[in-house]
Parts: sequence; structure tokens; C-alpha cells
Amino acid sequence: MVPHKHTDNYIENDLKLDIFGSIKDKEIEKVERERWMGGPRGPEKITFKDGSSVIFKCDIRHYWMADNPDTPIREAIVYQIDKIVGLGLVPKTMVIDDVINNVRYNGSVQEWVKNASDGYQIIKMTSKEKKHYERLIIFDFIIGNSDRHLGNMLFANDNKIHAIDNNACLIIDKDEDILAFPDTIIDLFTKKPLRDIPHVVELIETFYKNKKKILNLIGKYIHDNTKLAQLMVESRTNYLFHMLKKKKPFPGKYLEWRKGLDAEAKKIKYHNHSLPS
Ligand SMILES: Nc1ncnc2c1ncn2[C@@H]1O[C@H](COP(=O)(O)OP(=O)(O)OP(=O)(O)O)[C@@H](O)[C@H]1O
Ligand SMILES: [Mg+2]
Repeated sequence: MVPHKHTDNYIENDLKLDIFGSIKDKEIEKVERERWMGGPRGPEKITFKDGSSVIFKCDIRHYWMADNPDTPIREAIVYQIDKIVGLGLVPKTMVIDDVINNVRYNGSVQEWVKNASDGYQIIKMTSKEKKHYERLIIFDFIIGNSDRHLGNMLFANDNKIHAIDNNACLIIDKDEDILAFPDTIIDLFTKKPLRDIPHVVELIETFYKNKKKILNLIGKYIHDNTKLAQLMVESRTNYLFHMLKKKKPFPGKYLEWRKGLDAEAKKIKYHNHSLPS
């Protein structure tokens, strides 16, 4: 039986198709391998005959870091979270496992942002870009992205920021400090009153409203460090949401939050065999 368009089943299958895809049907024009990072296979730019391009990043577990967490699924799930909360800054990303001309492409592909400069080449952000940057700070904090340096933000003269390279998140490192609190967050909230950053407030509220959906997504597709990733996302979302109600959110409440979370993280680490106790 074909599920009805609005049943959960349909939505589930639809989502799966969105996360796991293929580039097999597209004809490849060329593959460029300009940079070789610390391993046998670095990112590759694949250009198709229709003129579009993607960046392909291999699943490093198949090449040299067998016990590394799953990075391609993180790239794709971050794109899904971006869509759920309406961030609109992560280029479309999916996990693939294709063999094309005897070459295996197992990893993630992300739409290539054309004519872009990275953050190191930008002298000053426009005010619209700046707003997106502030939203990105919140997004990265909640998903625990530890790699948002200027090289992982692209600018394409469209008043947006294109948030690329999104795999160092959702507890990519077993020893990650789930309580780490970047200065950028404190900086953001201490420099500006909430009434000046409605775009930030709105994003936090949307995260809070969609918390269950996001936690389910992580539970279903992130197979390593799952519980810690969920705890991190949930507690950071709650923390920011409740902080919105306070007149002076820092630093008192922050210390309280850390204490509670520390105890919870220890419990999870103790019960999860893949994590150090
Ligand atoms: N979606 C994209 N659109 C355009 N260029 C991209 C895109 N994704 C990646 N790139 C380019 O390819 C480079 C490598 O990609 P990415 O940063 O994701 O990989 P990486 O292996 O983590 O590299 P690094 O360790 O330098 O961050 C980026 O610095 C950027 O120049
Ligand atoms: Mg990078």
C-alpha cells in the first residue's frame, strides 16, 4: 500500500530520501582534487554536465580512521536541522554511496556555492550578513560545531552566509567538553540587548519549539555518541530559551547550568560503552 501523503510513514520515507541520495543519474564533466588533507583522500569538487557542482567528502572511516565517528551523516543531518529551524544557511547536503566509473563515492555531497569568497577574504560584513552571522553563532553553539572558523563560511554577494564544512559537531570527539561555552555567545548577549537581536531570539524559540523533532532526528541517524549529542543539543536549547526570560543572563545562570549538565553527562558516559568513563 502506498502511504498517504500526510501520514508519518510518508514523511519518514521522504526524509530518508532527503538524507541519503545519489549522484549516479547525473553525468560527470570533471572531478577536481586540489587539496589533499591529512589522509589518502581529500575533498573533491565534482562538476556535472548540466553545469552544477558539488563538494564530495569521503567517509574517512573507509580510508584511514576506522574508529572515527560518522562524518558524512553529520554533514547531512546539520542540513536537515538547518531546514527544521529555518536557518537557511547550510547548502543542500546528502549522504551518498555510489560507484561511478569504478570509483567509489561514499561520503557526503554538498551543493557547491558559486563565486564565493571565504571569511578571510571579507573586510566587512553587510548588516544582513552580520545578522545571519549572529544566527549562525546560535546554531553552531546548539549543535556543538567546533570548526566554524572563517574558512568555513562563504560569502557570495547575496547577503547570506553559506555555512560549509559542518561535520565537526554533535559530539564528533569522544572527549569533547559538552559544557564548553564559547566566548562568542557571551559576547553576543552582553554586547546587545535582546530587543536589538530579534532574529536571534526567533531562532532560539524555533529551536525550542522543534526540540523533539531534532532530538528524534539525532536519535535515529547519529549512531555514535548519540546520547551525549542529544543531551548537548537539548540542554543548550533549553539553556538559551530560558535565558531569554532573564534580565541579566550571565554569568550566574551559566555556572548553575554547567553544574547540572556535568552530572548528567557523567551518568551518560558511565552507561555508554563507546565513551570513556
Ligand atoms: N559547498 C561548498 N561550496 C563551495 N566551496 C566549498 C564548499 N564546501 C567546501 N568548499 C571548498 O572546499 C574547501 C574544503 O572543504 P571543507 O572545508 O568542507 O573540507 P575540510 O577537509 O574540512 O577542509 P579544512 O580542514 O580546510 O576545513 C573549503 O575550504 C572551501 O574552499
Ligand atoms: Mg573546512
